[in-house]
Amino acid sequence: MRFSINPHIEKVIFPPIVEIKRSVVGDAAPCGKPYIDLCQAVPDYPPAREMVEALTARLHEPETALYTSDEGLPEVREAVCRRYRRMYGASLSADSVCLTVGASQAFWLAMVALCAAGDEVILQVPFYFDYDMALGMMGIRRVYAPFREESGGLPDAEAIEALITPRTRAILLVTPSNPTGVVIPPELLDRLFETAKRAGVALVVDETYADFIAGGARPHGLFGRPDWRDHFVHIMSFGKTYAMTGYRAGLLIGSERFLHQAMKAHDTMAICQPTPTQIALGYGLDRLDEWVASNRRMMERRHDRFREEFTAPGNPFALVASGAFFAWIRHPYRGASGWSVARSLIEKAGLVTLPGEIFGPEMSRYLRVAFGNIVEERIPEAVSRFRELKGEEAG
Ligand SMILES: Cc1ncc(COP(=O)(O)O)c(C=O)c1O
Repeated sequence: MRFSINPHIEKVIFPPIVEIKRSVVGDAAPCGKPYIDLCQAVPDYPPAREMVEALTARLHEPETALYTSDEGLPEVREAVCRRYRRMYGASLSADSVCLTVGASQAFWLAMVALCAAGDEVILQVPFYFDYDMALGMMGIRRVYAPFREESGGLPDAEAIEALITPRTRAILLVTPSNPTGVVIPPELLDRLFETAKRAGVALVVDETYADFIAGGARPHGLFGRPDWRDHFVHIMSFGKTYAMTGYRAGLLIGSERFLHQAMKAHDTMAICQPTPTQIALGYGLDRLDEWVASNRRMMERRHDRFREEFTAPGNPFALVASGAFFAWIRHPYRGASGWSVARSLIEKAGLVTLPGEIFGPEMSRYLRVAFGNIVEERIPEAVSRFRELKGEEAG
């Protein structure tokens, strides 16, 4: 008799980027056009040269090859605190910071520390698919806060409050949003914090794209609240900030009470963030603010260009929301699944996008476009391929 597999994981979708890339064969699409990859949010530029050099200079030191303490090197966590003071006006202590293997692992630590199987987490639709997948395989019930197109997918504090039950453990948000790019305004985050406080649940916020908020605006003031530790958990990835996605640089910020428990999971999963990653991060956190800001300005130019080209009259695809690396668009093929439209875009236009349904129920009318993936000069070409599909049937 074959061994059985966890039925929770069997029900989870296959990694959608891997799945969609199976349809991308060779260099050019069946229509003859070279592919334009708009499906994954990865900076197309390398990390700062001086950061790589600083790491290279330390690679021969024996300590670079060793574990660090589970939570990470104190000097790196202190550099995190200094950066959070500049960026958020926060006065954090290094004890509130745990360095993790990407934001992905920070998320697992948070959920394992907060929830047991059968508990509930509220997710705003459209959600970041990896988080929905992870919760599914942990046997945690996902409760979906519905998408409101007119607000571009911003959460509605009352709607979320109405979904809270005695089993709710967390409200999970991503701002700027993956997939819509929408930034939750600080006042709304404050209201959601109050909602979480009233219910005695955690407000877990992933801010992976915080460094790409237009104008470099302060993301929120939650760290300034005297009671933030009782209700707020922050997840961050430095993968996009410092163009180091492969270094797997993430972090988790929360109260010492919460991190004490999360550390147990960290020890069993990874022990610590890779030491070379910590060294690179330790360099970048204090020295690369201007490098990060100039990349943000470049992304803003891509965004402006994308919006301008995409929303000019005559496009059968509608721009519903956008920001940071992403645009959330509505396709014109009523009744067709997002998967069939995404596959058809690959075949007929060489455009690789992600189908809406992986981001939540009833999302098949939408596609996610990661315009952050392509240089500004390629944007008109990418957008013109959407526009040329006018009148054609997809799927
Ligand atoms: C919203 C969001 N959170 C987390 C991650 C994963 O981050 P990391 O590569 O640091 O694990 C991503 C990656 O694209 C993301 O978009």
